[in-house]
Amino acid sequence: MIPDHIKEEVKAAADIVEVVSDYVKLRRTGSNFQGLCPFHNEKSPSFNVSPSLGIYKCFGCGESGDVFSFVMKQDGISFTEAIRTIGARFGVDVPEESRPENDERFREKEGVYHALAFAGKFFYRQLVDLPEALEARKYLDKRGFTGATIRKYGVGYAPLAYDGLIKASQKAAVNERYLEQAGLIKYGRNGESAYDVFRGRIMFPIFNASGKVIAFGGRVLDGAAQSDGRKAPKYINSPQTLVYNKSEVLYGIHVAKNEIRKNSEVILVEGYTDVLSMHQSGILNAVATSGTAITAEQLAIMHRYGETLLMIYDSDLAGQNAMSRAIDLALREGLDVRLLQLPDGEDPDSFVRKFGKDSFVKYKEEHASDFVAFLIEKTRLAGKWDDPFHRTATITTILRSVAEIPDEIAQQAYVQRLSSLTGMGDRALFEQLGVQRAEIARSREKTRQRERRIGQPNVNRPVPAQTADHNRKVSSNHTPAGSLDPDLQDRFGPPPTEDPRFDNRPHNEAPPEWITGMPESAGDQRTFDAQPWPGERTSDPSVTNPAETRSSQRKPGYERELLRLMLQHGHPMVEYIGSQCNEDHFEDDEYRMLFSDIIQRYENGKPISVSVYTAMADPFPSLVGEVVIDRYTPSARTQEKLALSRKKDVYKIAKGELRSLKLHYLDRLKQAFQQEYTNANELEEKRNFQQLLMEVSRERVRYEQGMLDQLFPNPEDI
Ligand code: UTP
Ligand code: MN
Repeated sequence: MIPDHIKEEVKAAADIVEVVSDYVKLRRTGSNFQGLCPFHNEKSPSFNVSPSLGIYKCFGCGESGDVFSFVMKQDGISFTEAIRTIGARFGVDVPEESRPENDERFREKEGVYHALAFAGKFFYRQLVDLPEALEARKYLDKRGFTGATIRKYGVGYAPLAYDGLIKASQKAAVNERYLEQAGLIKYGRNGESAYDVFRGRIMFPIFNASGKVIAFGGRVLDGAAQSDGRKAPKYINSPQTLVYNKSEVLYGIHVAKNEIRKNSEVILVEGYTDVLSMHQSGILNAVATSGTAITAEQLAIMHRYGETLLMIYDSDLAGQNAMSRAIDLALREGLDVRLLQLPDGEDPDSFVRKFGKDSFVKYKEEHASDFVAFLIEKTRLAGKWDDPFHRTATITTILRSVAEIPDEIAQQAYVQRLSSLTGMGDRALFEQLGVQRAEIARSREKTRQRERRIGQPNVNRPVPAQTADHNRKVSSNHTPAGSLDPDLQDRFGPPPTEDPRFDNRPHNEAPPEWITGMPESAGDQRTFDAQPWPGERTSDPSVTNPAETRSSQRKPGYERELLRLMLQHGHPMVEYIGSQCNEDHFEDDEYRMLFSDIIQRYENGKPISVSVYTAMADPFPSLVGEVVIDRYTPSARTQEKLALSRKKDVYKIAKGELRSLKLHYLDRLKQAFQQEYTNANELEEKRNFQQLLMEVSRERVRYEQGMLDQLFPNPEDI
């Protein structure tokens, strides 16, 4: 049996949109995603995924469930296997039962993560606090990185001392063995004295897709030399470790992935600083490799989020040759490849710093080319286009690349493009393409045979191990509504020591995401974020098993009433209630789901009524039945009719229910803060929660004692 808390952890870590995207092309529609249902054949999309609820649902065939049931159905695997697969994908280690060596591996990995998180925090604090780091701070400042960026990406400083990290770790009781396994320390020849691997460097933590630190890149400060006087290498990167596989990690992906999803484009740049500058300027879909050539695995990861890959290259020929290989890999992955050459002497970092986001976007629109044009241009620049031999070779190379593209329609489009750029008839080109395709097929068959002989199937590596941001739901999706909102989140915990230099850092900023889950001291892995947000779903939504919870008994009546009002009075009432509360205020999972769905229909201008919902697939009909049916008693209906005759009174009912909703919500909030307060270790943190508690109490009094009409003004008064 997999323990419940692991299941919960996997579920919280899993990004359902990402998982479903492996099978279904999803498009964002409001807060949800939509695509063609993989469970039945359809032409217009009725398959919906709600990332905030962690569920999917097809309004065509009625299939619904959570991330586990999705992969169970798609891959035909068991529940346990589903947890394992998803756990592996999102970096939650699911221990194998009854196999000691697996438990061992699990513990090792956890230890390594712990050491990395500790180091990330340590380096950051050194950068902020250490007098010795002044040089580094100045440097970053000169490079134009804001305090907010430094903080968000956890940029840090590794002190010069040979044992800076070691000493700090000892104090915090971080196991030295894990530091070694994380590639952070090494042992001297005699096997005894340990020393820090990163010294006197600016540290860039490398995060997995969900924001966990898995490695570091350390950059020298300009002008630094090694003790032997030789020039120090510009970057030292973490070695491969239990938790870091270079070939499947993209620097910046934890931030970039959402943006990539939005406009389906990913920008590949060269270095850490390019990513940081791009992101800082608002171009959030940029990622980089960590000093290695791009791999098929990395491209597959990109393809999970987007369709178009924009590669930025510089003017030197060496760079362009490496590019050709990357293009082939990307085409093979099925990505739509675009290329962009920046003006002479500029890299993405310097370009956006000088000219900003808008200029970049404009430049990109004007100068990005497809790979066919790029390869032709390259031959031209090398002065070889007029040489028939080279020209033919180039065209063959291009067709060879085109033949790698999985989609035949795309192949044809590229052949036509080649034809128009070269003036060659497309008949000859298609013929040549056929030859290339045959050749590729032949060579693939050969590889297969060879592998069969060796007995090593060419399994595509599944999905890269990526890790959980266990706190994602708390930190982003569940901002509570109401007058408490705006900075509730921001006050979650005191920011780390402030550096007056980074004075553009907003006060009370939330801890950077990468810090969440970082232990203050060893053995203290629980952070306040481990608490579910009030109203946050803590167990499976009952959608996975609607029958079991189809009892309205223990469900909040006021939530039911609000839903009923919305369903029975349609758009005006939805508009009114929707403007007074949001889904976070709903405690019951199913009611919350129904609420969100109603709001979504409202936003899309779709009709809202009881009959609309009863015509939908499960669980809606039964849910709607539950919500409205006990009100359809004759006496209630009479009352309703009366109320309807004086329209205002329907709103009066709504107001009363809204009051209950808010009060219950505030009670849950209070409880959560009380818990946080108790758990908090630091005085400052305690004070923060005390403050929050006071505010909640104040709000509570306001809702309890305030006049309904003032608390929830009539629609015409809003
Ligand atoms: P760059 O030399 O362009 O570095 O190498 P950069 O990140 O842009 O840094 P600045 O702008 O000079 O400060 C690009 C990438 O190549 C890898 C790193 O990942 C770097 O970000 N690299 C470079 C190494 O791994 N080792 C090196 O010695 C140099
Ligand atoms: Mn650079």
